[in-house]
Amino acid sequence: MTERKKMTLPALFKKVQNGEPITWLTCYDYPTAYFQEQAGIDMILVGDSLGMTMLGYDSTLPVTMEDMIRHSAAVRRGAPNVWLVGDMPYMSYQPSVETAIRNAGRFMAEAGCDAIKLEGGAEMADRIEGIVRAGIPAIGHLGLTPQSVSALGGFRLQGKGAAQAKKILDDAKALEEAGAFCILLEMVPDRLCQLITERARHCIIMSLGSGPHAHGQLLIYHDAFGLYPKFKPRMAKVFADAGAVIQEGLNRYVKEVGDKTFPQPENWFGMPDEEYADLLNRIQAGDTAKEVLP
Ligand code: KIV
Repeated sequence: MTERKKMTLPALFKKVQNGEPITWLTCYDYPTAYFQEQAGIDMILVGDSLGMTMLGYDSTLPVTMEDMIRHSAAVRRGAPNVWLVGDMPYMSYQPSVETAIRNAGRFMAEAGCDAIKLEGGAEMADRIEGIVRAGIPAIGHLGLTPQSVSALGGFRLQGKGAAQAKKILDDAKALEEAGAFCILLEMVPDRLCQLITERARHCIIMSLGSGPHAHGQLLIYHDAFGLYPKFKPRMAKVFADAGAVIQEGLNRYVKEVGDKTFPQPENWFGMPDEEYADLLNRIQAGDTAKEVLP
């Protein structure tokens, strides 16, 4: 196990200043968090995508604050030193600024997060402002925002036309002015991502399927490691097909138990001959154990 230094906000900005890309992945559980921290990931997002990747829903909308806190706390236990971002689920911030601040605070106090992320543009600037005023680092999310997938007309590229691209650019400015230290651009054209990155003053711009010009990259862990059987987005490179490895292992387990090649002696525990003989004698004598010594 390699001990890492705790990631901090100044350290993230230093990477930007030095032109070093920031690495970010989603994560939802303790063991994966451990592996990600060992790999040197800078940031982890406990995304409400867990509704689809971990809980099997068709969208992120049914995810609750309780789901998010439980998974975020597990990730924090596995990765104590990464910059941990809690993703605010549907209706945990939309109703009002006060609701947004209260729920953002739960991510910090109950799960040990370092920051929160929420979806939406200028219309959410007051939520970002309130959360930042409460001392909580906040990340905006523009482009394809899965909580609004119905309004956006599906999981598809956003900002392809000039008018919509200008709106996303203006939204990014509004979020930065509201105090967001970082903005995630999901599935917008690479040139729009470049323009927003070049215009950002005190804001880290991250790309998910939005090209190479941002300050860093985010991928959904399950897409990058072949673990989501329903859908494989074009933007996600599969870095290792863990899903195939696990499937192969499961097939072997079922076969080996079925044909009795598992377990083998190294997989069980024996008993000394004299203890076994004594046991048989006791059974025959109808003994009831009065005293059991370790
Ligand atoms: O929930 C999530 O994982 C996200 C990503 C799609 C960015 O918000």
